[in-house]
Amino acid sequence: MAAISSLKGMVCAAVTAAVVVGGAAGPLAAAPGPGPVPGSTGSGDSLFPQAGNGGYDAQRYRVVLDYRRDGSISASTRLTARARHPLSSFSLDLEGLRVERVRVDGREATFRRHGHELVITPVRPVRGAFAARVAYHGTPHSHTDPDGSSEGWIATADGATTVNEPVGAMTWFPDNDTPRDKARYTFAVTAPSRRAVVANGILVDRSRHGARTTWTWRQGEPMASYLAMISIGDYRVFRSTMRTVAGRRLPVWSFVERSLGPQRGARHLVPRIVRWEERRFGAYPFDSTGMVAHELSVGYALETQDRPVYPGGPGVGVLVHELAHQWYGDSVTPRDWGDIWLNEGFATYAEWLWTAAHGGDSTRATFRALYRQNGPKSDLWKPAPAALSDPADLFGPAYLRGAMTLQVLRQRVGTDHFFDILRSWARLRRHGGASTHGFIGLSERISGDRLHRMFRRWLYTPARPRGY
Ligand code: ARG
Ligand code: ZN
Repeated sequence: MAAISSLKGMVCAAVTAAVVVGGAAGPLAAAPGPGPVPGSTGSGDSLFPQAGNGGYDAQRYRVVLDYRRDGSISASTRLTARARHPLSSFSLDLEGLRVERVRVDGREATFRRHGHELVITPVRPVRGAFAARVAYHGTPHSHTDPDGSSEGWIATADGATTVNEPVGAMTWFPDNDTPRDKARYTFAVTAPSRRAVVANGILVDRSRHGARTTWTWRQGEPMASYLAMISIGDYRVFRSTMRTVAGRRLPVWSFVERSLGPQRGARHLVPRIVRWEERRFGAYPFDSTGMVAHELSVGYALETQDRPVYPGGPGVGVLVHELAHQWYGDSVTPRDWGDIWLNEGFATYAEWLWTAAHGGDSTRATFRALYRQNGPKSDLWKPAPAALSDPADLFGPAYLRGAMTLQVLRQRVGTDHFFDILRSWARLRRHGGASTHGFIGLSERISGDRLHRMFRRWLYTPARPRGY
């Protein structure tokens, strides 16, 4: 679905499209002009240019997945999308697995696989709205990131869990794997009945057929594919409701791996933290919440939409962090991975705010300690958080230096303007796309200050800013 798109982003995507089509896309390397052309096989992202595809806008995914005890799946994904221009062929991203057949608008289509590209050629070019259904099976494997971490489909002793950031979604369903194309989702997952299945959103159906049960979850708000989550496991399931600050009733679904005990403390913190964050960031953007706690080997938590995944029983800091992402990252989503500080800097700053509000260091003291402890030679200052060029740095400077940037902004514009900026950012870009450029513009509009120089030093310059 079309996120609020900047002209700049569109121009970049178009340029990349032309290049990629001329190179790898194959037989119909058509000259631009009227008439159907192949959609590009990349998104033009600054760090993951090959992930994601061009030429269409995904609206909705329906992922129907059968999980077997041997770890294999048999699945189909139906994508409804809108072609941006007539397409003679288009791509989805899919890594591993075996594709059985592809139908476009109900008719058998031909397809080729080329690395992680699934290139689909329909019998007739698609125009406007279309639907593609991919049937596939096999044993999914995780994806190894440039920084060496694992993501995507993670097989576990009791099932599997998916944690997709940044490009792991393609290990278990064919998608347009870029945060600039958000869509709505339904997941219908069938697993042995003694396992539980969780995903994003609301549970709309659970039906048992003998030894197997199908759980259907629906995510009714736009979601980036890196936030899509299903987990099959030996869970205890806890269901309750909470009231938001505005009095809205939200379902709280928590899935806790049996071996972790009931996690009462953590579960009860969730509604408290959501309300606490609402008072700072504005209304909670989604229709449900909760948590998924599992002894996952990946070593990180992930802000999967509505319901983050935690590797073990979460402490308060990580709960505050992942729940803050629901505003900053999940609802307001960077259109380019190079703007990841808009996620991690904000979620880290939320942790600082929580600490300050609960008897710990003020955010200013946290900032000062980091600044003092990290002299000009420290790794903290290189690369700059919004000037990443190596995808292995995705989960690096965005966190601490990103949060420090927000503290500098606060000291510059004052606390009132600062929280006005945070709230307006969440409200104006709700369920949409975002860029650093847009955030700087909003900060300047609200504060009435010229802030370019400050942001340049803090976000774009690979050195310790002087004078703090
Ligand atoms: N976004 C996650 C967080 O809140 C971190 C994800 C790390 N992912 C990875 N593939 N290393 O902190
Ligand atoms: Zn984070």
